[in-house]
Amino acid sequence: MKVAILVDNYLTQLSSIRLRLLGEWGFAAYVYDYKILYDTGLTGTVLLNNMRALGISPDEPDYLVLSHRHIDHTGGVKALLSARSRPLTVIAHENLFAKAYAKDEGGEVEIGVDFTPEYLRSKGAELILIKEPYKVAEGVWASGEIPRRWGPSHTGAVSDLVPDDMALYIKRPEGLVAITGCGHSGVENIVEYGLQVTGADRLYAIIGGLHFMGLSEERVKEAALYLKGKSPRLVVGAHCTGVSGMAALQSFMPGVAKPSGAGTVIEI
Ligand SMILES: [Fe+2]
Ligand SMILES: [Fe+2]
Repeated sequence: MKVAILVDNYLTQLSSIRLRLLGEWGFAAYVYDYKILYDTGLTGTVLLNNMRALGISPDEPDYLVLSHRHIDHTGGVKALLSARSRPLTVIAHENLFAKAYAKDEGGEVEIGVDFTPEYLRSKGAELILIKEPYKVAEGVWASGEIPRRWGPSHTGAVSDLVPDDMALYIKRPEGLVAITGCGHSGVENIVEYGLQVTGADRLYAIIGGLHFMGLSEERVKEAALYLKGKSPRLVVGAHCTGVSGMAALQSFMPGVAKPSGAGTVIEI
């Protein structure tokens, strides 16, 4: 299985120069095997630039799964649809169009989606809004709403609990591969629900935003030790995992936790 990180806060590989890769605050990943794009980053500029750099046509994805409604994950939707010449199936939580707010250094800011259901349909999108796990392909699920019963959620500066936060779960012979956008549901909940939904007996890999930014050192340690206890073979903390979060993961799981950056291609 092959996954490319298309949008990330970081650039961590030398080929960023040759390929003219760009970074921005946000996340997007592409799962080649199932032609699933998961999230779109903040602006669309970075998504489209990095897709072209990696040789992925805007028309290639069959599915777009949106991790949650925040603009740093949904902001590239309009640019993507405008660059395509064929329909796209868009799968998101039914809370996608609810208003969303956060506090940054400048005060309160609106961070919800910048499009309507009518706009999506007018651009050739088939919109599937879900709350329960949704089977996208054989062995692949959009999680639907993730119960918060195994650990705390990670909402930080956000004004609500982000019930729309959804992971992408892939059941592989090696175990569960969980891809997460911002990780608002909390690492324990994302992983445990993934094991439940897929029936996998172990965690193989977790890739994406784990939302360690803004958490206390103790909570980051607790979450990292939880992950270590699941004995995954690969942990790629991207986006809102943050620099100190990635460093913590690498110190607890040397050789397993890897740095992420826009343009990183992961072979599983
Ligand atoms: Fe978010
Ligand atoms: Fe985010």
